[in-house]
Amino acid sequence: MASFPYKKVLLIGATSGIGLELAEQLVLKGVYVISVGRRQNRLDSFISAHGSSKAAGFAFDIAEIDKIPSFAETVIKQHPDIDCIVLNAGVQYVMDFSKPHTVDIAKIQNEISINYVAIVALTHAFVPFFQANSMDKEVAFIYTTTSLMSVPYPMVPNYSSSKAALHAFILCIREQFKQKPESKINVVELVVPLVQTELHDGQPGWSQDFNPGMPVKQFVSESIAGFETKEETVAIGQAKQVFDEFELEKGRRVGPVWEIIKKNMGKAHTFG
Ligand SMILES: NC(=O)c1ccc[n+]([C@@H]2O[C@H](COP(=O)([O-])OP(=O)(O)OC[C@H]3O[C@@H](n4cnc5c(N)ncnc54)[C@H](OP(=O)(O)O)[C@@H]3O)[C@@H](O)[C@H]2O)c1
Repeated sequence: MASFPYKKVLLIGATSGIGLELAEQLVLKGVYVISVGRRQNRLDSFISAHGSSKAAGFAFDIAEIDKIPSFAETVIKQHPDIDCIVLNAGVQYVMDFSKPHTVDIAKIQNEISINYVAIVALTHAFVPFFQANSMDKEVAFIYTTTSLMSVPYPMVPNYSSSKAALHAFILCIREQFKQKPESKINVVELVVPLVQTELHDGQPGWSQDFNPGMPVKQFVSESIAGFETKEETVAIGQAKQVFDEFELEKGRRVGPVWEIIKKNMGKAHTFG
């Protein structure tokens, strides 16, 4: 029977919703989970529920981009055997550009910082560690995106853009790592449909009585089953339908297109 391919997971965005449920289900499968989020009380509850032989936690605000390198250094020092990093943290803001006075540009920056820049900076901070540790074992970055990266939703324009950017980044770095087969860094994308979490708390129309979408437990167990197949893309529920319709063909075509560009551009498009 397939099992989760990694033994120690650093889970960024693990204090609620998908991240918390993923942490819980992975610990039950014998995976050591290091949880990260801003809410210390939630990290404490997770560690006290499972004990320090199975769980650890770091309170960290990933929007503090400048602190990411020292955060990574601290984590690596304490856990030099991490073999999987799940980059799951995210925020979503509703905004209406037809009423520009209601749009707060600081929120645009914050959303892009958390959903994209921080995720890229975390990747950057951990790549040397993974390169040094993946000669004899596989390691993985797992990224959380959404069907809205393919079909943007007008209520959340900047969120949709942030996840579209992340998807493009994922395709590019996956190819870059494949070009360096001496290290085995897998790049996995988890494409999420609407799921019952705290993401939409406070948005117009959402309440305790109205939080539609897939139950988070079901979503996470299907996701783990997907990770166990070792597919590069794990798309669940309605997100799978959207992915299959809009992204599969792109996935098939990017490789040949990249080859044509490389051929036409010669050395101009080759790294040393
Ligand atoms: N739920 C959905 O319908 C849905 C659909 C598609 C994609 N997604 C994606 O799924 C991922 C998880 O979201 P969720 O639905 O589980 O929402 P959630 O319950 O709100 O969880 C978000 C997680 O991200 C963490 N986080 C947010 N900002 C952070 C920051 N600055 N620094 C550190 N951690 C931060 C939160 O921790 P703290 O607040 O403790 O910092 C929390 O653990 C997100 O990337 C989201 O875009 C969700």
